[in-house]
Amino acid sequence: MEVIVRPDADSAAALAARLIAARLRAKPGLVLGLATGRTMERLYATLGSIQLDFSGCSTFNLDEYIGVPAEDAHSYRSYMNRHLFSRVNINLAQTHVLDGMAPDLGLEAARFEARIREAGGIDLQVLGIGEAGHIGFNEPLSALMSRTREKALTPATRQQNAAMFGGDPVKVPARALTMGVGTILEAREILLLATGSAKAGVLAKAVEGPITAMISASALQLHPRCKVIVDEAAASALTQRAYYDWVFHNEPEWADYR
Ligand code: GLP
Repeated sequence: MEVIVRPDADSAAALAARLIAARLRAKPGLVLGLATGRTMERLYATLGSIQLDFSGCSTFNLDEYIGVPAEDAHSYRSYMNRHLFSRVNINLAQTHVLDGMAPDLGLEAARFEARIREAGGIDLQVLGIGEAGHIGFNEPLSALMSRTREKALTPATRQQNAAMFGGDPVKVPARALTMGVGTILEAREILLLATGSAKAGVLAKAVEGPITAMISASALQLHPRCKVIVDEAAASALTQRAYYDWVFHNEPEWADYR
């Protein structure tokens, strides 16, 4: 794992966008795993503003609320259309978001996993982190080998996402479909983006703490190609800052990004 600290949320998102752009230019048929949430809005705005050809790219989103139709403004499908897909030349037929209205959610999850396999696996998975340390909607005690499935959301997650539902946590759906931690770890490369002081404590636990199912993001320590891009506020509880900065400023891999 590598941790890159940028001065603020805009420059963290800009660096993440440059990395994604480089992967897409190197492989026009890139299979991209995508996340939602407020943190990603900056990233998608940046991706939408640079010259990039998404026509060969296919995407798989991490999660979707159960019981929210795709056309509802609160669905993650709507979020993706609004924040990214409408801003780039992607073929919508190549964008995959779980269907939270599917009559058989187990079958929907299995089909989603099959589509990822048929696409050849995910090349680059973009992740945010929830305040309780979840990736996707893998709430505390999610098995670290879990696959795409239904998950009940914690009260803390519903509270965290309430702003998108008029401020009322009760209006946030109680269940979601989410890629499993095991599904996420199969991506060939992972990029986690976290900004803001609310994420500082949990980010330090995920990156520097023990691997535990209580914090599904800590499983990323097992991944051989995982990059964590954060702003100063989210980095404030990390203990090995000097080393992370040295790596970013000296390792050849980062020469084009400094
Ligand atoms: C939701 C999503 C996560 C995301 C998290 C963080 O819970 N399921 O994938 O990482 O929100 O959201 P935000 O960026 O708004 O803090």
